[in-house]
Amino acid sequence: MDGRDLVRSMKAVGSAGAAQGLRTVRAAWRTRRADASALPSRGAEHARVPGPVQEVETAPGGGIVRFARSELRIMVAVNGAVFWGWDGAGPEPSYALAGRCPEPDPRTALEPDKEGGWRVVAERVTVAVSRHGAVEVRTPGGVTLRRDLPPRWWEPVGGGTARWMQRSEVAADARFFGLGGRASGPRMRDGTYRMWNTDPGHAFGPGDDPLYITMPVQLVVADAATHLVFRDTSWRGTVTLREGEEGAGSGHDRAGTSELRMEGGPLRCWVVVGTPARVLLVWASLTGAPALPPTWALGHHHARWGFGSEQEVRRIVSGYQERGLPLDAVHLDIDHYDEHQVFTVDQERFPKLPLLADELRQDGVRLVSIVDPAVKAAEGNAVYDSGTARNAFVRDAAGRLVRGVVWPGETVFPDFTDPRVREWWGRLYEERLDQGFSGFWHDMNEPTSFAAFGEPTLPLSARHALEGRGGDHREAHNVYALCMARAAYEGLRELVPEERPFVFSRSGWVGMQRYGGTWSGDVATGWPGLRASLSLVLGLGLCGVPYSGPDVGGFDGTPSPELYLRWFQLGAYLPLFRTHASLRAGRREPWEFGAEVLEHARVALVERRRLLPYFVTLAHLARRTGAPYVRPLWWSAPEDRALRDCEDAFLLGDCLLVAPVLDPGADRRAVQLPRGRWYDTVTERAYEGPGQVLLDAPLSRIPVLARAGCVIPVRGDGGGLELEVWAPARGRTGGGLVVPDAGEGWDEPELERYVTRWRGQRLVVEREGEGGTGAPPHPVQVRGLDGG
Ligand code: GLC
Repeated sequence: MDGRDLVRSMKAVGSAGAAQGLRTVRAAWRTRRADASALPSRGAEHARVPGPVQEVETAPGGGIVRFARSELRIMVAVNGAVFWGWDGAGPEPSYALAGRCPEPDPRTALEPDKEGGWRVVAERVTVAVSRHGAVEVRTPGGVTLRRDLPPRWWEPVGGGTARWMQRSEVAADARFFGLGGRASGPRMRDGTYRMWNTDPGHAFGPGDDPLYITMPVQLVVADAATHLVFRDTSWRGTVTLREGEEGAGSGHDRAGTSELRMEGGPLRCWVVVGTPARVLLVWASLTGAPALPPTWALGHHHARWGFGSEQEVRRIVSGYQERGLPLDAVHLDIDHYDEHQVFTVDQERFPKLPLLADELRQDGVRLVSIVDPAVKAAEGNAVYDSGTARNAFVRDAAGRLVRGVVWPGETVFPDFTDPRVREWWGRLYEERLDQGFSGFWHDMNEPTSFAAFGEPTLPLSARHALEGRGGDHREAHNVYALCMARAAYEGLRELVPEERPFVFSRSGWVGMQRYGGTWSGDVATGWPGLRASLSLVLGLGLCGVPYSGPDVGGFDGTPSPELYLRWFQLGAYLPLFRTHASLRAGRREPWEFGAEVLEHARVALVERRRLLPYFVTLAHLARRTGAPYVRPLWWSAPEDRALRDCEDAFLLGDCLLVAPVLDPGADRRAVQLPRGRWYDTVTERAYEGPGQVLLDAPLSRIPVLARAGCVIPVRGDGGGLELEVWAPARGRTGGGLVVPDAGEGWDEPELERYVTRWRGQRLVVEREGEGGTGAPPHPVQVRGLDGG
């Protein structure tokens, strides 16, 4: 135990009661002992590199290159994605892939190149393999996007899991994004980032890394092209990034580098090359389309740890109603459980939950329930008993139940990597549905087990089914929450087949979007936390997880009225718009910060509701194309370097540019505009990009700009769908896509395509269909006519 551990254990003892504190000390010792006896200690190792090439076997899409000490399997798929795996690793089995691996592109195969190596030339990418096992990815025009040097393995003498290292180079101008949910981005600066889903144990800020969702996914943006690289292994590891440097025309550029070190698992990867939109499209086809949230989940949610009773919930909801503030969901945290036990209700404080849920539903407010994976280890607890009967809980190498510590005290952990366990767990949501809940908020699923020292999770040696392959927590840890989300999603589909499930999860891994979204976790109240909120949403979106948002106002403490309002204004434009805070934090209701804040928060809430049809459209487009709702400014112009470095604004779909205020005391801010004309949506004044403009950002609002020519579906005063059209510049055309809301089920609404153009002095808006163009079936409001 070092000094920091000691402080942590003291805190645990102090904050959660002496008994809980002692449990965390005991649990930490148990973990240490379990791992000491069951995990091989790292002794002597053999280092290995592939060595010289010996023979090549071609196959559709690529083939196998045999080196003296390894072999490389390489395949370009029909969708243009490239796979390669060392030591013969294939794409499957994989927790990331959705369904089966795509077919190889039959039009190409390995062929000798001029340098004595081999290459695969496909329509969108060329992959070249050198004689010693370096792998280069090039554009069709021959520009190198990345070069993976020959990898290196270290194998324990006497056998066991090999660790490995892969060093790569990228263009000098390249910028790194991604790696899951990181607080210090979205652009990933030079440094070392860990791949290990982690509850930081305190409210976090930009300096905390790693957090709850880590992914070995990098999106690399450079002048020549954008590419995504995914190392498909769930083991623990680190990536060290270093941006390159350009030699200002001297010819002495220094390449950017990325060095990945993994403690085990296959050395295999996927690379996708193209524009950002194309990369995300192919990524979604590989790892799965994002689940479509129900429409109410695109509205405003209010949560808090510590709504003590049904009366308090009613009081909050009335608070919203009396003030005419839109509200779509209320979340109940662990305090509505009976002694913090999952799938139970405290009957004293919440005696008539189904009735409350029913009443709220009639008022258009849904109830969402927190669901923690840890089950209180106590006979008589129904979940513990039924899980024990099914042998559902994680065991250690000696076959004993692994006990940890979470809110209810001593707990056990379902092994979600076992299909049998997922099925059992999925059915447990019936109890939640009977209580009237419509959505589910997965928490503590890194998984977190409080520990006075060491890692706050299960022992690394804990055993997991891993779909029947068998393995330990070193491999299962990072996919634990992904598998829990799958259990819930599949269970809910069985239980309520006619409705789309709503699940969002604190932790996760590549592919989690198939089952739902996520949120920031316990972001620290403060201006840096506000900035971190945006970083997380942008970064996750670029890793294929489009639905997320922060705890508006921050998780801990009490934000100043100004900070609360600025957070609220940002949150209103993010996919998950939810106020939430800790038991020990100050209030987060919009009326708790004075009359002025209330008025401005009302504007944000009303605007969010007005934009609901736009959010519905973005959700459908995310599912159909993989494009996140919230996109970096460089999304359509990655070659614009000023945009690449801009981290304080974002695009919401194709139409809007949102420039939140992230600093105190601001009443104006600089906004970097992409090419084209942009209208300030409040003043309707037009600005021409590319370039920087200074815009008013009084306390009442943050700058939001609309792209000239765009068509935004909005909710009209009567509740119907209307089209807000922003005039294209003279002589130019515009347009947009609209997907109407088709309710809570699985109907596939037809995509509506609109065009806007000038005909003489008149602006015409038409719907394009198979039979030509026609008048739009919705009322149209044209804006920006006088702005230019
Ligand atoms: C964790 C969650 C937080 C929740 C709390 C109590 O800290 O991240 O959102 O309120 O647990 O359940």
